[in-house]
Amino acid sequence: MLVLGIESSCDETAVALIEDAAGQTAPRVLSSVISTQIPLHRLYGGVIPELASRNHSSNLPGVLQEALQSANRSIHDVDVFASTAGPGLVAALLVGNTAAKALALTAGKPFIAVNHLEGHMLSPFILHEGGLVPHLSLVVSGGHTLLIDVQGTGQYTLLGRSLDDAAGEAFDKVAKMLDLPYPGGPEIDKRAEQGDATRFKLPRPMLHEEHLNFSFSGLKTAVLYLLPKLTPGGNPNDLDAQTLNDLCAGVRQAILDVLIRKAFKALKKTGHKVLAVSGGVSCNTALRRQLQEHCARARVELILPPNSLTTDNAAMIAFAGLLRARNGDFSPLNTPVDPNLKLGGIQARA
Ligand code: KG4
Ligand code: ZN
Repeated sequence: MLVLGIESSCDETAVALIEDAAGQTAPRVLSSVISTQIPLHRLYGGVIPELASRNHSSNLPGVLQEALQSANRSIHDVDVFASTAGPGLVAALLVGNTAAKALALTAGKPFIAVNHLEGHMLSPFILHEGGLVPHLSLVVSGGHTLLIDVQGTGQYTLLGRSLDDAAGEAFDKVAKMLDLPYPGGPEIDKRAEQGDATRFKLPRPMLHEEHLNFSFSGLKTAVLYLLPKLTPGGNPNDLDAQTLNDLCAGVRQAILDVLIRKAFKALKKTGHKVLAVSGGVSCNTALRRQLQEHCARARVELILPPNSLTTDNAAMIAFAGLLRARNGDFSPLNTPVDPNLKLGGIQARA
């Protein structure tokens, strides 16, 4: 079975082809092409929805062609067309979603509407030899921070989520305050590698509370109050390089401490011995390093996607589609896109 996935929920236009070979648990990723609009949106300090959808529309045909060519397949070979149906920017979602539906209709092949968060959540298992196993999932993206008990495909229990800013959003907003380029996560990560995380005491909200929810909005307020103490007028451009690096290291560690502590609390609560981490923030160098250390000590198996599959991509959409297609779980062509699509919503309706 050959699945073509399309992702266009935010600022990446992506197409991937995944092939499910008979008798093998792990499918083969034949191609995963991503055209990023980051340089364009960086000019405005964040994603401009109207620009994103226009660019998806002009980029998608070329990305589709490249994905087919590098997979050495024709559109007629595709058995299932999958695309992101939400959550995301509605006008951006509509581009990839409508294209996938049109292709499915023309080819007379089934269509699958995929939840973007489910795509991220399953992404650590795309290349995992043992396939999808019951585990604790930590999804850390620009829009979401979720802890989910995963029993199997479509069997998800939400254990905790961010009550305000997502972890990636916290990185991005603090970076903006420090006048660092968008997206802030990679920029803070890079500078933090040269910094001292202990120099500034920053808050770790909800660290010791029993529940599994997160709160990251206080971090940007803490940085806002700290800046004028470090430099007259609070202009981040007046900070010396070492202070900026130390601040980045402090912010990164404050976010990671909460993520790691809550993940281990959830492992204890659920009894899971497998932790899978996904979403854009999961390519953070210190998060990977520290999770590896903690998991080795606690004898927990850590499953991380390769860096290329952490930020938005279509391989994760094709893979989520493939798992649904194996169960014959297709979507009607009139399935709408939903900018606020909740995890499990698609399964509940199908
Ligand atoms: O999963 P993703 O590509 O898009 C969403 O679905 O939101 O995640 C994007 C987020 C951004 O907030 C970005 O700053 C963050 O992932 N990110 C990082 C790193 N690389 C990307 N955050 C921390 N460290 C990184 N190295
Ligand atoms: Zn994403």
